[in-house]
Amino acid sequence: MSKYITTPIYYVNGEAHIGHAYTTFIADTLARYERLKGEDTFFLTGTDEHGQKIEESAEKAGKPTQEFADEISATFKNLWDEFDISYDKFIRTTDEDHMKGVQKAFEVMFAKGDIYKDFYEGHYCVSCETFFPQTQLVDGEFCPDCGRTTSVVKEESYFFKLSKYEDKLLEHYANNPDFIMPRSRANEVINFVKGGLHDLSVTRTSFSWGVKMPKSIGDDKHVMYVWLDALLNYITALGYGSSEELMNYWPADIHFVGKDILRFHAIYWPAFLMSLDLPLPKHIGAHGWWTRDGEKMSKSKGNVVSPKEVADAYGVENLRYFMLREVPFGQDGDFSQRAFIDRINSELSNDLGNLLNRIIGMSGKYSDFEIDSVDVEKYHAKEIQKMNIVLDSLDAFLENLQTHRYLEELWKLFSIGNGVIQECEPWVKMKNGQKDEALATVAVVANILAKAAIMLHPIMPNTTNIIADALNFEINTASYKEMILEKKLLKLFNIKKVPPLFPRVEEPLMQEAPKGEPETIKEEQNSKNKEKETKKEDDNLIGIGQFFETSLKIGTVVAAEEVPKSKKLLKLQVDLGEETPRQVVAGIKEFYSPDDLLNTQVCVVANLKPAKLMGMMSEGMLLAAKDEDGLCLIRPQKPKKAGTPIG
Ligand code: ME8
Ligand code: MG
Repeated sequence: MSKYITTPIYYVNGEAHIGHAYTTFIADTLARYERLKGEDTFFLTGTDEHGQKIEESAEKAGKPTQEFADEISATFKNLWDEFDISYDKFIRTTDEDHMKGVQKAFEVMFAKGDIYKDFYEGHYCVSCETFFPQTQLVDGEFCPDCGRTTSVVKEESYFFKLSKYEDKLLEHYANNPDFIMPRSRANEVINFVKGGLHDLSVTRTSFSWGVKMPKSIGDDKHVMYVWLDALLNYITALGYGSSEELMNYWPADIHFVGKDILRFHAIYWPAFLMSLDLPLPKHIGAHGWWTRDGEKMSKSKGNVVSPKEVADAYGVENLRYFMLREVPFGQDGDFSQRAFIDRINSELSNDLGNLLNRIIGMSGKYSDFEIDSVDVEKYHAKEIQKMNIVLDSLDAFLENLQTHRYLEELWKLFSIGNGVIQECEPWVKMKNGQKDEALATVAVVANILAKAAIMLHPIMPNTTNIIADALNFEINTASYKEMILEKKLLKLFNIKKVPPLFPRVEEPLMQEAPKGEPETIKEEQNSKNKEKETKKEDDNLIGIGQFFETSLKIGTVVAAEEVPKSKKLLKLQVDLGEETPRQVVAGIKEFYSPDDLLNTQVCVVANLKPAKLMGMMSEGMLLAAKDEDGLCLIRPQKPKKAGTPIG
């Protein structure tokens, strides 16, 4: 059995951002997991380089289109290489073989009678590269998907008989309830199809940056519609229309996509494949949307999270862990440094990192780093059993793309490990001359760590290799079989010291996002629809109700001290009129001394989830403003009772 896993191919009109990274991480994780299990796996990613949008972006950049595409495609490829993404092929839609395959597919569909020539008159959204009939537009002119202005297209075009496949598609969804994952996303697709499918315009004549028409059809003023071109990458990558040499991997097991492009993958793509008489992909996995600090990311707001910047600051594998742990697959997720740092410190550093350090330390102290599993069954049958229950439960979560549950369950292993140390106190046993027992405890935890490292490998490949190195074994299909499937213990550990894998993050390592101006999508529109455009952008304004979701209160600082070893942090106790004062850890040490604050008043965000900073709980955030001259706290102009609401 083989496995075929894909990401979308990304448009080369801008640099990769965190959303692209997420799709790529999850696909890479699944590919690594399948390989670990011994499956012959092909993992495809690449770039989507044709169409009006790219042509226009290149023009704006003042570069020849191909040169522009080459440059941006390389930034994606370099980034994935830097991130150790284990793709087997990086396809570009400007590759000769791909273009040949697209022409071949067009000929096959044409010969079948599924493509005919007509005249297209309607609207087109360049940003989404999508045709819309008048009836679907918002206020008669705006794209129903992205809200941008659409342009009128009136041109000769070839059409694909999408309408012909309506019933077959509905039948396929009905017979394959897991075709669309998560299932909750299937309804929007089914309803769209039930609403009636229009035949799809699949060629354009008003620009030229696309795959040329096949010679056999001979209508060379036409180029292929970019989505027909792009979707076909999933088979041309395997050699469709050229060498055919990898077609044994088809059908794909899963195409990972963002929810924005589910419709193309769950409707157009299967219809094209039916027309080509090829089997359909087994699953389309549609994930949700990432925001930053609760706001939509956009270039014009300047709040796009650069995955490179995050990886440079926090490590790419920590980022993978965070993104896959943070959101249930299919749901939207929010990237905030605070949440990210919290997970690094509490889950990676505390739960996992400290456990490994303790085992390294104890093994060194008690037996010169040599630990064997001889007495593990005797003293720790209970922990072994608990561990095996967790290990047995994991596979189903990842197969169902529930990465957050997979990791949540996996982390139970570390609480079993930490729990057994606390309970058995090996250092006491050593003092009492019960060395066998003490070493058995160290060994059971070493086994737990080893097995956890194997299962964590697809998410944190390099980090877990270091753990395996410290415990003196290798992570591969053979060790997966023995230690996970056959549940063997590692006989002997020759433990090696490694530097701490997850240093605690004490202060944010990246600049916070600029707070957004409303997104502006301009240029092409005239002043008449500017007014309507602003209305569309109201998405970025919030209602008064949303504002009041934030609880702001006046607080009185009743104690203040410096946090030793921190350049930025002060630890405050702030009276908010509650039973006890709240502890607030604030990054203001460069601007205020504890004395400046004691018995003064501040404004506090009172309903934030508590966060840990340098191991200290912080149960609120102070309002402050910062510019080139430094930072100042926002304070009430006259003293107010502690706990007085602001708003
Ligand atoms: O749509 N949150 O390319 P694209 C989560 N070329 N994921 C996000 C995201 C966000 N904020 N922003 C982007 C295209 N993505 C076509 C695809 S496939 C045959 C052709 C991810 O560069 C998500 O996976 O606009 C989304 O589907 C993809 O990037 C779109 O990338
Ligand atoms: Mg897009």
